[in-house]
Amino acid sequence: MSDALRQLADLVLERSGIALHGKHRIDTLTAALEKVAPAMDPSAALRAARDPQQAEPFVTALLEAVAVHETFFFRQRRDLDAIDWRALLAAAHAAGSARVRVWVAGCSTGEEAYTLALLAAETFGGEPPLAIVATDLSAAAIARAEAGRYGRRSTRNVEPSLRERYFVQDDQVLVVGDALRRCVAFRRHNLVADPPLEERFELVVCRNVLIYFDPPTVERVLDMLEGARTPAGVLLLGAVDRLCRPSTRRSADRAVPAPRRARTTRARASEQASRWRERPHARGSASAEDAIAAALLAADGGRVDEALAATQQILAEDPLNADAQFVRGVAALGQGDATAAADALRRALYLDPDFALAAFTLARAYDTLGDWPAARRAYLQTLRTLAPGHERQRRLVAEVDLADVAAACGARLAALAS
Ligand SMILES: C[S@@+](CC[C@H](N)C(=O)[O-])C[C@H]1O[C@@H](n2cnc3c(N)ncnc32)[C@H](O)[C@@H]1O
Repeated sequence: MSDALRQLADLVLERSGIALHGKHRIDTLTAALEKVAPAMDPSAALRAARDPQQAEPFVTALLEAVAVHETFFFRQRRDLDAIDWRALLAAAHAAGSARVRVWVAGCSTGEEAYTLALLAAETFGGEPPLAIVATDLSAAAIARAEAGRYGRRSTRNVEPSLRERYFVQDDQVLVVGDALRRCVAFRRHNLVADPPLEERFELVVCRNVLIYFDPPTVERVLDMLEGARTPAGVLLLGAVDRLCRPSTRRSADRAVPAPRRARTTRARASEQASRWRERPHARGSASAEDAIAAALLAADGGRVDEALAATQQILAEDPLNADAQFVRGVAALGQGDATAAADALRRALYLDPDFALAAFTLARAYDTLGDWPAARRAYLQTLRTLAPGHERQRRLVAEVDLADVAAACGARLAALAS
């Protein structure tokens, strides 16, 4: 990479938090420059980025061109279905608001915000008591969100009955109807460079955004997102963003949406692990899977002791259980013990070398320990082994989008290389 391109990549990182992808780094930046200023070579572009007369519009356009805007209606639906809208409304009332206030940070072209409005409308019937503020770095994405016109790719998961009720068909395009539009206000906002929003929210949603940031930026942005919640407010991160969360942040249930996860109590996890213990020949059975799933939810929700106790029981009967080692790794990271996490995750990978999510979590553990060469190797192993249809991964973390994991690895590899 030329020196001018490297300096432009640094500028992008500093202004947006976006670490450009490893081997695609040069291509991404060159393509963005081609789009923004086709007549400029990298040195001329660097001069423009530093020239007080042109810098602002030039850098803004460059950031828009490098950002990944992939999104669609009902993306990672399970987490959205778990939102307890009635509990959020009760919390809003307790805080003196007649409406549930939601912030969608990194909303891209708007599909996620309209999906939330639709789900709330389905819960409450009619016009929901809801006020969504949806923000993104990209003015172009915000303009498309405001237009609210979506093609087939974006709307592939919208059921016919919902299309009829909440959209207007305009040839091949679905246009968002007024009932949903009235719930959502779009606004440009840079999570890295702009001051925090002044409003407070019952629900803050930030999915598939943190994955492009390096760990210190993730920390700062999480501070902002957590600070934007009302005292009872909930932060909903994407499945991979959750794995990117620095270990010390995995605190308590507030970081995950309520009902489905809250149901997994300490009692349930240990009860399921005991059931597994009583049936030592039931390896691979539904009860073992339930025990693992319950332990993983406990680990993800910050109930670390519960998760460790449950996996210990499972491993006592089946020391070769890679799932249990993975959960122990996630739990240990949650406890801030990256050394123990790395140990458990290495065991998981020894048992199943194609276990890409274990490799990814191991990479985050090494990242936390500051062992960059080992982190780099583990990110590369993740990229080598990421493949659709890996049964263990599908079962354990169904909502993980492999493209997001790949993007997160790319972002970290780029940062570790520089
Ligand atoms: C992959 S999209 C995710 C969209 C949506 N949240 C979803 O999960 O479907 C990531 C979005 O984050 C936005 N983004 C990246 N860096 C940002 C920043 N520093 N501040 C605000 N938005 C940012 C990008 O412009 C892009 O639209």
